[in-house]
Amino acid sequence: MHRVICLVLLSSPWIFPCEGYNPCCAQPCQNQGVCLSKGADAYECDCTRTGYYGVNCTTPEVFTLLKSTLKPRPSLVHHFLTHYKWIWDIINNISYLRDTIMRYILTSRSHLVDSPPTYNADYDYKSWEAYANLSYYTRSLAPLPKNCPALDLPNAKQVVEKVLLRKQFIPDPQRTSLMFAFFAQHFSHQFFKTDFKKGPAFTEALGHGVDLGHIYGETLERQHKLRLFKDGKLKYQVADGEVYPPLVKDVQVEMHYPPHVSEEQKFAVGHEAFGLVPGLMMYATIWLREHNRVCEIMKQEHPDWNDERIFQTTRLILIGETIKIVIEEYVQHLSGYHFKLKFDPELLFSQRFQYQNRIAAEFNTLYHWHPLMPDNFQIQNQVYGHHQFIFNNSIVTEHGISNLVESFTKQRAGRVAGGWNLPVAVQGVAVKALEHSRAMRYQSFNAYRKRFNMKAYSSFEEMTGDKELAAELEKLYGHIDAVELYPGLLVEKPRPNAVFGETMVEMGAPYSLKGLMGNAICSPEYWMPSTFGGKVGFDIVNTATLKKLVCLNIKGPCPMVSFQVPDVKYQKTSLENVNSSTGHSTQNNINPTVVLRERSSEL
Ligand SMILES: *[C@@H]1O[C@H](CO)[C@@H](O)[C@H](O)[C@H]1NC(C)=O
Ligand SMILES: *[C@@H]1O[C@H](CO)[C@@H](O)[C@H](O)[C@H]1NC(C)=O
Ligand SMILES: *[C@@H]1O[C@H](CO)[C@@H](O)[C@H](O)[C@H]1NC(C)=O
Ligand SMILES: *[C@@H]1O[C@H](CO)[C@@H](O)[C@H](O)[C@H]1NC(C)=O
Repeated sequence: MHRVICLVLLSSPWIFPCEGYNPCCAQPCQNQGVCLSKGADAYECDCTRTGYYGVNCTTPEVFTLLKSTLKPRPSLVHHFLTHYKWIWDIINNISYLRDTIMRYILTSRSHLVDSPPTYNADYDYKSWEAYANLSYYTRSLAPLPKNCPALDLPNAKQVVEKVLLRKQFIPDPQRTSLMFAFFAQHFSHQFFKTDFKKGPAFTEALGHGVDLGHIYGETLERQHKLRLFKDGKLKYQVADGEVYPPLVKDVQVEMHYPPHVSEEQKFAVGHEAFGLVPGLMMYATIWLREHNRVCEIMKQEHPDWNDERIFQTTRLILIGETIKIVIEEYVQHLSGYHFKLKFDPELLFSQRFQYQNRIAAEFNTLYHWHPLMPDNFQIQNQVYGHHQFIFNNSIVTEHGISNLVESFTKQRAGRVAGGWNLPVAVQGVAVKALEHSRAMRYQSFNAYRKRFNMKAYSSFEEMTGDKELAAELEKLYGHIDAVELYPGLLVEKPRPNAVFGETMVEMGAPYSLKGLMGNAICSPEYWMPSTFGGKVGFDIVNTATLKKLVCLNIKGPCPMVSFQVPDVKYQKTSLENVNSSTGHSTQNNINPTVVLRERSSEL
């Protein structure tokens, strides 16, 4: 098959000059040198601070050579962090060592993210517009120049069908729970909020990070409609003696519900789209209760404070709680590390670190973790298929938050990497992700690997670790350097017993940690008790856990709550084990009797 090789990377043996095109189309500058075209057949590479020199920034400086020989491969570091538990048990207990390692993780990761931000989809060179226009997602790698020959890429739908779509559910070996999957969805939608009126390169979430716009609304107008204006609280309704979000008809905020949803089921929350699945509405309800709970505490601490002061302080406390839970439980779970991660902004006070963040389009693309979603959802003794589950808030009120939490904690999510695990129900989202990354002129998967300090893959088999998958991928793309970012992440060989492959982690961790620690509340000016209403509020932030978040906001006993499906006990009775002899696949589950009550329309 003929391909226009001019766009494929320099490392490719098939390179030929891109006559008549922008010379930077061939991407001659290596090691993040910047290409500057000079007419149709000349260019210059700016190698400043890359650690390399020469026409194409390919000759390493002595210091670079030394560093690269001393620097261990990411796979080796990962191996060490996920093995030798006894060593980590000791290290985790020596605060000097734990702090030093955590500081190193934070700085080494976040230095991979350009801050201040540089490019965006319309600017492949530095410009004030790209820096200052917050409506754009930023870019970690500049888009491919516009006046280049068109890429000959496979049909997006075919890519999804051939290498991504689920054949049968593959459970995540890290035992990630749906409680995690919905947290991920809920948490990330505060900063991934593509503005489709403008196009895939634009975002509505102008806070570019953890601002809790998904709880309070992106605009001040929306926030005011959601607020009670009494004691700092948010509006709510009580059903069956429990607090739930108010109804759309009562607060008049826009929410995305299809017409068939009854007015009594249209809950209104910060994010317009959170009526989509009960898992999102569950978290929205929990955070609403948490907000009002913390308001009560602030009111007691500061009887003199007005509504506005209590609201604003509570918002900062909830931002702090979120970051604490995300680093110490969510990222901790994803990492699989035995090293105990620590949320402590003071670790960075001695470092060169920018307290600002801009969400990258690539971060949004890589966060498309739809393979986490199972084919159906088991809540108490009911099984819901996809179509019964979406836009169905009555599931939230009928089962109640406590039962939802326990059920989601017991159900295993799917594995993300390794290919062939994308639920059929969301294939449209995957096609869109591909089409958008093409419209935004993304560089290749291998280009991103190099950008984030990894070696480019040299063959399809090295990338996937699977002959059959490699063959399908090769049929689609022809050359390894043509594979695109999004499918690359989902077909990549998973790390041993892990949910993700190497690239997802090595790219995702920098964006994630930079976004969390770059928050204003982590800066020296903010990070002190008074910002959070005094010692009481500061303690709430510093002792926040997922379990407390849930259990302080429900009546009755504390349900099982975890980002990881509890081991042994539940696996013994799991459907997976029951059915493994019959060859049927189902997700890990609690109670074999549910099959008898199966009501899924999909079966
Ligand atoms: C720089 O890269 C171009 C291809 O893009 C190649 O033709 C040229 O030989 C390289 N120059 C050096 C000095 O490596
Ligand atoms: C860690 O230290 C605490 C007290 O400092 C001690 O109680 C605990 O047993 C130690 N744990 C390990 C695994 O060494
Ligand atoms: C940002 O850029 C877009 C696209 O060019 C434009 O429509 C918008 O007005 C800009 N925003 C601001 C605040 O200038
Ligand atoms: C929504 O969930 C309820 C259970 O709470 C169920 O009875 C109903 O059938 C579901 N709705 C749809 C449209 O599937």
